[in-house]
Amino acid sequence: MANYDEVFKYSVTNREEFWAEAAKGITWYKQYDSVLDSSNPPFYKWFSGGKMNTCYNAIDRHVEGGRADQVAIIYDSPVTNTLKKITYKELLEKVSTFAGALASQGVVKGDTVVIYMPMIPEAAIAMLACARIGAIHSVVFGGFAPHELAIRIDHAQPKLVITASGAIEGKKVLSYKPLVDSAIEQSTHEVKTVIVFQRDIVQSDMIAGRDLDWVELVSKSSPVGCTEVDATDPLYILYTSGTTGMPKGVIRDNGGHAVALYWTMKNLYNINPGEVWWSASDVGWVVGHSYIVYAPLLQGSTSVFYEGKPVGTPDAGAFWRVISEHKVKSLFTAPTAFRAIKKEDPQGVHFAKYDTSCFECLYLAGERTDPDTLHWAENLIGVPIIDHWWQTETGWAIVGNCRGIEQLPVKEGSPTKPLPGYDVRVVNDEGEFLPNGTNGNIVIKLPLPPGNLTTLWRNDERFLKSYMSKFPGYYDTSDGGFIDADGYVYVMGRMDDVINIAGHRLSTGAMEEIISNHPDVAECAVFGADDQMKGQLPVGLFVVKAGVTRDGEEIKKELVKMVRETIGPIACFKDAMQVVRLPKTRSGKILRGTMRSIANNQEYRTPSTIDDPAILGEITAALAKMGYVKK
Ligand code: COA
Ligand code: AMP
Repeated sequence: MANYDEVFKYSVTNREEFWAEAAKGITWYKQYDSVLDSSNPPFYKWFSGGKMNTCYNAIDRHVEGGRADQVAIIYDSPVTNTLKKITYKELLEKVSTFAGALASQGVVKGDTVVIYMPMIPEAAIAMLACARIGAIHSVVFGGFAPHELAIRIDHAQPKLVITASGAIEGKKVLSYKPLVDSAIEQSTHEVKTVIVFQRDIVQSDMIAGRDLDWVELVSKSSPVGCTEVDATDPLYILYTSGTTGMPKGVIRDNGGHAVALYWTMKNLYNINPGEVWWSASDVGWVVGHSYIVYAPLLQGSTSVFYEGKPVGTPDAGAFWRVISEHKVKSLFTAPTAFRAIKKEDPQGVHFAKYDTSCFECLYLAGERTDPDTLHWAENLIGVPIIDHWWQTETGWAIVGNCRGIEQLPVKEGSPTKPLPGYDVRVVNDEGEFLPNGTNGNIVIKLPLPPGNLTTLWRNDERFLKSYMSKFPGYYDTSDGGFIDADGYVYVMGRMDDVINIAGHRLSTGAMEEIISNHPDVAECAVFGADDQMKGQLPVGLFVVKAGVTRDGEEIKKELVKMVRETIGPIACFKDAMQVVRLPKTRSGKILRGTMRSIANNQEYRTPSTIDDPAILGEITAALAKMGYVKK
């Protein structure tokens, strides 16, 4: 089958046959008993009864199969001026020994391990070592503050925490260890062991009796083999923003995840074993889990591990330099990275300096690709620019352009068509199917294909409530959009309080919870305003308590500081303003959507349920003063 329509149709009408075929790409210790266990919907299980190990599939089998001396990871770090190539054989040695180190600290199958590390190969080694012994890793992105790390530590209850002394963010040297110390202090779960990778750029103080030096520990450890796990056992927990301050712990299984990711490398990304692939993201995000670490290694290709930014490390030519130097076939990043490059080098002066003839395709995801950036990149690079839509929950693309099967024509504003396995529909709030071209809720008919979340960590109830209850029989993506007459899906944005800042997913609800804790604040609203560079940025409006006479600017500064210190710099919360009142419905619901439309200069209808329409005029004036309302 070399035709998208045929492959797609087969995947949804012959689900089990389709995925059984794909499962042949994975090495099983014991063949599964059933491809899909539908006995307890919506808790579907893929490859029940199967025994395997994800680390074995990502490393050992390539060493055994003749790729021992092939480079598995290229660590390219312009911020530390380092270039290292790690072959599959070397990776096996490092991962199996670090797995031995974890085992020496009592980590066993089913234990959880929290990883808080920058973009250094040790982050991947730590993840793979956990997978090797059947431990469940939970990587926390380094841009999150101690409070966020503490929330995750308390929820995941790790046996130990793995970190590095610090990171370089652009030109700033950041110490990570004090953040970890503070998080552990804030958490109620007792962390008895912290493994610290000391970097030359910054050394950290060690707490005697708790902290262990990575290098020292490894020098005393012996390599261990792979632990056999059930296909349905969890591989990792990845916390992602929901509508409240408590993130959702997405669970990924071992078997379904390996099958699906392996399948995507060739069929979606057209990457073969031995070819060089680069995903310019961070291991703290789902893109990093799936396409920096697991998928390229499952496929036996070479993964570029880049510690730097698209601009400023040292210039807007960084991406072209890496592509040219390492013969990268395809790159996957967020549109915001290209907007940053476009802003600094609109004429592509840097691009012209490098031989990028090896480069075949650019994949974008994380946020909507704006037509301007799409055309600019197309004109400059002259390769296909493929937008694809996915979420932390799905672990791989829901909608995309399967270049390994058949490259479909690109339509501006659409990530193209549903991937095999995803039966995508658009429904109204009552769950009725909407005709082509009509905007609504994008849902996916159950069962979801392998590799998708199986539940939320220790919270089946929230899993059901968040994703499965609103439209029974369908997974609610929380994204809105429509499908056109040709079957192309258009994703227009989130229907909930989640926003996307530079391709990073954050919760405005979580920011509101923090702001509400300010002693002078009576109530507040945070929503996303469009931003040319980062896609969206949070904007806060707050009302002070009766009797508070302090300067609103002063309070704003305190709120900005609170959000930065509680969620982290990655929240990019910098703009807020005091208002006299917020627009609400008669039942007291704050009209965030209406305020967002005003800030973004979009047409809006005054809701019929509004308590006092005059407030919208006040809000418009406030947002205009902040520089949002252009008309
Ligand atoms: N550790 C600690 N701090 C971090 C961090 C990390 N891993 N990543 C980001 N931060 C900090 C930044 O230093 C910045 O702090 P500041 O407010 O003190 O300046 C803040 O968090 C916001 O970071 P970011 O939104 O990344 O802004 P930026 O101006 O530093 O960079 C881009 C802008 C567009 C260059 C950058 O966002 C980028 O490269 N994006 C690529 C997209 C991407 O990787 N998406 C991931 C999903 S695919
Ligand atoms: P995350 O879970 O961090 O991957 O963020 C997922 C959210 O990012 C989705 O629900 C979408 O709102 C948005 N998103 C991701 N990729 C795209 C895309 N290609 N087009 C539009 N929105 C996207």
